[in-house]
Amino acid sequence: DRSFERVSSASSKEDEEDELKIKITILFGTQTGTAEGFAKDEYAVDDDQYEKKLGKETLVFFLVASYGDGEPTDNAVRFHKFLTEGQHRGVWLQQVTYGVFGLGNRQYEQFNEMGRMVDEQLREQGAKQLIPLGTGDDDKCIEDDFSAWRETLWPALDQLLIAKDAAYVASTPFTVAIPKYRLVIHDTAATYSSGNHLNLTDGNVASAFGIHHPRRTKVAVRRELHKPESDRSCIHLEFDISGTNLKESIAKYETGDHVGVYAENSEETVEKTGNLLDQPLDLLFSLHTDREDGAKMGSSLAPPFPGPCTLRTALARYADLLNPPRKTALSALAAFASEPREEERLKFLSSPEGKDEYSRWILESRRSLLEVMAEFPSAKPPLGVFFAAIAPRLQPRYYSISSSPRIHVTCAVVCGPSPTGRLHSGVCSTWMKNSVPLAENYDCSWAPIFVRSLNFKLPSDPSVPIVMVGPGTGLAPFRGFLQERLYMKGDGVQLGRALLYFGCRNRTKDFIYEDELKTFVEQGVLTELVVAFSREGSNKEYVQHKMMQKAAYIWTLLSKCGGHLYVCGDAKGMARDVHQALLGIIQEQGCLNSTKAEAALKKLQMEGRYLKDVW
Ligand code: 2AM
Repeated sequence: DRSFERVSSASSKEDEEDELKIKITILFGTQTGTAEGFAKDEYAVDDDQYEKKLGKETLVFFLVASYGDGEPTDNAVRFHKFLTEGQHRGVWLQQVTYGVFGLGNRQYEQFNEMGRMVDEQLREQGAKQLIPLGTGDDDKCIEDDFSAWRETLWPALDQLLIAKDAAYVASTPFTVAIPKYRLVIHDTAATYSSGNHLNLTDGNVASAFGIHHPRRTKVAVRRELHKPESDRSCIHLEFDISGTNLKESIAKYETGDHVGVYAENSEETVEKTGNLLDQPLDLLFSLHTDREDGAKMGSSLAPPFPGPCTLRTALARYADLLNPPRKTALSALAAFASEPREEERLKFLSSPEGKDEYSRWILESRRSLLEVMAEFPSAKPPLGVFFAAIAPRLQPRYYSISSSPRIHVTCAVVCGPSPTGRLHSGVCSTWMKNSVPLAENYDCSWAPIFVRSLNFKLPSDPSVPIVMVGPGTGLAPFRGFLQERLYMKGDGVQLGRALLYFGCRNRTKDFIYEDELKTFVEQGVLTELVVAFSREGSNKEYVQHKMMQKAAYIWTLLSKCGGHLYVCGDAKGMARDVHQALLGIIQEQGCLNSTKAEAALKKLQMEGRYLKDVW
């Protein structure tokens, strides 16, 4: 919790300055850290345990990302619930003035749903909007959207200060120094510990699991799911969660949850970066934030990763090197370019005038940080700056758990040419593809993993029918559902009907888990398996086309038998189109107009009978 000041140039005496202080609170809802990054370019406070204090704030800004199907991010779930469902609702925020910047992506159906919701709820509950809602679009340059929104903020803040003191004169806009960690080089091998990665838990501690407490877990099994004729790859990976006390807590996950996996950058990526930084990979160092640094920088620095560790480890585990760099990263690089032409171009790319060039040369061509650094070889930032301001923290990747009760994941391997002609390999999928399983070698691969729970669950009453829609790797959670149904059947539980709509390109290439699915049908846990092959005939056939052929049946299951409908997979195309097809089915079968059909679908959603796990 910090106070933010913009002090009038006219006031010099301390007591006058105090008069002109406005306390600003900034709250962020973040999944991958972008909202947090923006918040920390300002001054920020996390929103943990915060809600009830909201009514006491005078000026508060929200930077909120929408996730998946317009849902709140993990750290904002409770806040979302509080704003929309809390007992306190009513007009209780009259004292509060606020601004909201939403982070979203226009390709998703529920664009910036969270930003809109927070803005609307605050207004309804009596708060005063200082500036209009900003809607950042990650499909384009979200940093520019944020800068534009922030530009509307300064005059509004000036107005507030003028209202406090008519003598106030607006000063130059607030600018941010390049953040950096204090770097300590360790030269004795004695201090070296292999780095206890992210509070990595190894066994005996019964601590809570979560993103900050992943557990070191061995890869037990790895196999290719695509058939030999396929030119793509999809990996089945099993994590071995047996053998420690923590089995209990990790085994608490339920079918339908996600597993978060921290993967490492490849050796090749790490070596290239080390060369560009002109530093030996064996360099042993640690990063620090001192209280004094913290005060100077606001709280703009995230706590550094654990050290001491080698540069090799730091680059492999903690640096996002393959995504396009943010503009702030380019301006930090510019500050360390010794070649004037390089400095000038980097400055241009990060400036408002360079907006189009940044979009074209960086975003559209998906130019990675590593590629950009290679284009500006004279820019050699010190490591304290590199890890604070240039390379964002490498984020865990999430996978729907495709098993019950062990942790299996089903991962499409990301590999293909980028627009610049570089062969782009996804960090985690490549790591999975190259991982060595315990089944092959005792000295196998491992990764820190953790579980994120989701509301994507089988009905509590197993006799309720279910319709599952999951083309491609969207099949993953349903494989878990079906395994769970098999266990229940073994225990003599009476199961309701289960329909699965799966889609892939071609039965001879990417019909993943084909044998298992057919066995589920034979075992009576899957009533019907319907597969749409999109690249076999001259026409594309998708899951929603198959669903429309059985419109009456699906409608009966949903409207008469209390059925649950689940959709998993790609949000931008598939889930959107399936949603439209469902509206069509409801309209036609229920004889409803489009408004009523939408209301019926919304009702299913509210009742937790239409659930999505989409990305
Ligand atoms: P396609 O690649 O031939 O277009 C798994 O990825 C399956 O989902 C593939 O068969 C893919 O088909 C299909 N798919 C792609 N876009 C889709 C959409 N909008 N709706 C449903 N399925 C889609």
